[in-house]
Order: sequence, then structure tokens, then C-alpha cells
Amino acid sequence: MLAIAILAAGKGTRMKSKLPKVLHPLAGKSLIDRVLSCTKGLNPNRKLIVIGHQANLVEDSLKHHQDLDFVLQQPQNGTGHAIQQLSSKLKGFNGELLVLNGDVPLLKEETLYSLLKFHKESNASATFLSASLDSPTGYGRVFTDDSGLVKKIVEEKDCTNEQRKNKLINAGIYCFDWQQLSDVLSLLSNQNSQNEIYLTDTISLLKKALHFEVDNPFEIKGINDRVQLSECEHYIQEQLKSLWMRKGVSFVDPISCSLSEDSNFGTDVVIEPQTHLRGKCSIGNGCHLGPGSIITNSTLGENVLAIHSFINEATIGNNTSIGPFAHIRPESTIKQNSKIGNFVEIKKSCIGEGTKINHLSYVGDSALGKNINIGAGTITANFDGKDKHRTIIDDYSKTGANSVLVAPIKIGAHVTIGAGSTISKDIPDKSLVVERSKAIIRTKSD
Ligand code: UD1
Ligand code: CA
Repeated sequence: MLAIAILAAGKGTRMKSKLPKVLHPLAGKSLIDRVLSCTKGLNPNRKLIVIGHQANLVEDSLKHHQDLDFVLQQPQNGTGHAIQQLSSKLKGFNGELLVLNGDVPLLKEETLYSLLKFHKESNASATFLSASLDSPTGYGRVFTDDSGLVKKIVEEKDCTNEQRKNKLINAGIYCFDWQQLSDVLSLLSNQNSQNEIYLTDTISLLKKALHFEVDNPFEIKGINDRVQLSECEHYIQEQLKSLWMRKGVSFVDPISCSLSEDSNFGTDVVIEPQTHLRGKCSIGNGCHLGPGSIITNSTLGENVLAIHSFINEATIGNNTSIGPFAHIRPESTIKQNSKIGNFVEIKKSCIGEGTKINHLSYVGDSALGKNINIGAGTITANFDGKDKHRTIIDDYSKTGANSVLVAPIKIGAHVTIGAGSTISKDIPDKSLVVERSKAIIRTKSD
């Protein structure tokens, strides 16, 4: 039997934030979400989350995960106190308890597998992840005897100067034999520099405590402040960009770009400086993104060009050119070979194949056919002050510069609209329409 407990009740004082520490985002996902995600494949029988500081916020943020058992720790008197709160929940439970710190987000599932395996094979009372760090500041230090058994963990704040020199640290990830742990939980005290009940003190009370050193110390990096948060962000970004560079994506200036883990790229994609991909993006072969583009939850076909533009929850067809300075908003589909140019905003619209909207336009709640030319400054007036209405334009039509199409409206195929017209009724196929007051021209008398 396996139970997993994630410690997420602390305030995270050192973050200096209104937001609980475990809800701070790292490459687009909260710390706690990341910790929880790395336990997916372990198929535990129980999943317990210890919450306390802003408990509701933390609980709400995990709604999309199933089978979570939230345990309230009030007040938050330390990591040992947090685990004491599990006693009634785990009454009669027989097996391993895997304890994860909610602020150690880069942990890999494989490492947890190895920890569990090692723990079981060694028949230990507790086994925890450790690392040997060049700069161990802030972590609890691990002290072993000659046979390799762990004698104690001493928190940085409780260390003597001599003890502080020890570079072997506790990563805050433990596998306990629950029966043995529950027997010693009540023996913990708060006689330490922080007046907290430390989970780490159980180690010296247990029969056989072992540590399991990780290969990659970055994996167990704990986040206590925003400097460490940015170090982890940097690490994730470095890993992601190297991965995609090896698979055929070029970055002109990788340091200025960021990716999400849920994005996928074809080959020969070029990413120019200051370009960011967020959420779930799929980018086809030969796309050229940026400089200065932000693409979120979108699918781009092949050879799409997107310069200085925002593309959000949209689908863009092959060989389409976006920008500079275009804004493609959610629920938009831009079909292949089309062009969305300078200062154009598209919202909840479908733009047909080969259609061009080159300059200064707003197209919202619209369905445009193929090979249409939308003149500079054309606006679909979709909002009557209360409701939104649709605009339909059929294939091969043209709107003149500064046309206003007052929705709901349908413009047929092969229609030409004269520049400066405000059209508020449907226009049949193959017509020419101009709505403009006559110019009055008078000769000026001196
Ligand atoms: C802890 C370990 C330290 C280890 C380090 C690894 C203890 C006493 N120390 O120190 O040995 O090197 O992690 O990153 O355990 N939490 C609660 N309830 C509380 C207090 C904390 O749920 O009352 C949660 C926090 O939300 C956090 C985690 O426990 O997710 C760790 O707490 P934190 O205060 O950051 O411990 P560290 O000082 O980093
Ligand atoms: Ca910590």
C-alpha cells in the first residue's frame, strides 16, 4: 500500500507575497501542481494534501486533480506538525508514506520510483532524497554514521558553524514506513531555533534511516524565495530550449524567449528574440515566429510567419502571414495562404483561404470566405451596445478603405464596397455598393 502526502500548508514567508508559495507559477504551472503531477504514475492508494495557509485557494487550484484528500493543518507549526495531522486519516494504514514538500517542483517521477524501490529493498524505516551541494545554504544537513545510516538531520538555523560546512542536504522528499513513523510522531518537540515541530527530527528516532542521493541536484531544488523561483524557471527553460534545438528548432536569442512544456514544434522552425509560447501550442514545420510574438494555446500549420503579434487560442493555416502587430483572439481560425497584417484584430472569426486583411482592421464574430480583400481600416461593427452580431462575407469580395459593416450583415460573393461606406443591410452577390454622402465642392470667394 502506498500513500502520498504533499506538504502545502506553509505561508512561504520568504516569498513576500499575498499568494501562498505553492501557488506561484513556474513555466505556467503552480508549484503544487507540478509536485502532484510527478506522482501520477505511482498509482498511490491515498493522496493527501496538507493545507493551512489560504487553504481554500490551494484546494481550489487543484480541482482538476482527482481523488485528493485535503487535510487541514491549523496553525502551521512545522513540517512534523503537518504530518501529525495525518494520524487520524491514516489510522490502520499499513504501508509506505511518501512525503513530498510542496515547494520542490522539479522532481522527476523516475526518481520517486528509485527512492521507493531502494527503500523497500533496504527494508528501511525511512529513506529520503539527499544531494551533495556546493552551496547547501538553507537546507537541513544530513549526518550519517560509518555504516551509512543517517543519525540526524540538522536544520541550517540549528547548525553549529562546523555542522554548516556539511554539504550533504535533505531534499525534503521522504519515504516512511507509516507504522514506524506514526509510533514516533508524538515524540517530536519544538525545542529548536524556529520553535517548530520538524519532520526531520523523526529520522533520529527511527530504527533504520537511509538517504538516497540524487544524480541531478537541480531536481530537488527547494523554492523558498523568488530568486530560487527564477533559478528554477531558468533551468526549465534551458532544458526545453535545448531539447527543441536538438530536434530542429532555431533560436536567434534563446535567453530572451520562453516555451511551455506542452508545446510542440516541427522542424526548421525559427524563433526570433522576445517570443514566448504558452499553454498548449503546436507549431508546424518552417514557421518563423517573432521577433516579439506571444502565442498561447494555438495551432499553427506549416510556414506561418508571425511577427510582433499575439495569437491566442487560434488555429492558423499553412503559409499564412501574421503581423507585424496583429492580435488574433480566441476561437479564430485563419485558413491557409491568408494574410493578417499591420494593426489588425481578429476575434472569434473564421478567415477563408487566401483572404487578405492587411491594415488597421477589426474583424469580430465573422465568417469570411476565400480570396477576399479587406481594405485598410474596415471594421465589423459587431456590438449594438447589448448583443454581439455576426458578419458574413462571401468569396472574392472586396471592401474599400474605412468601410464599416454593421452586423448582423451578410455580404455576398464578388461584391465591391466603395471606400468610406457604412453598410447596414445585406448585399447580394456580384454587386457594387457605395454609401457615402455627396461631396459638396464650392469655390472659395476671397
Ligand atoms: C525543509 C526541511 C529541510 C530540507 C528542505 C528541503 C524541515 C524541518 N526541514 O526545510 O531539512 O532541507 O525542506 O527543501 O522539514 N509546510 C507545511 N506546514 C508547516 C510548515 C511547512 O505544510 O507547518 C510545508 C510548506 O508549505 C512547504 C514544505 O512544508 O511546502 C517545506 O516547508 P519549508 O518551511 O519551506 O521548509 P524548509 O525550511 O525549506
Ligand atoms: Ca522549503
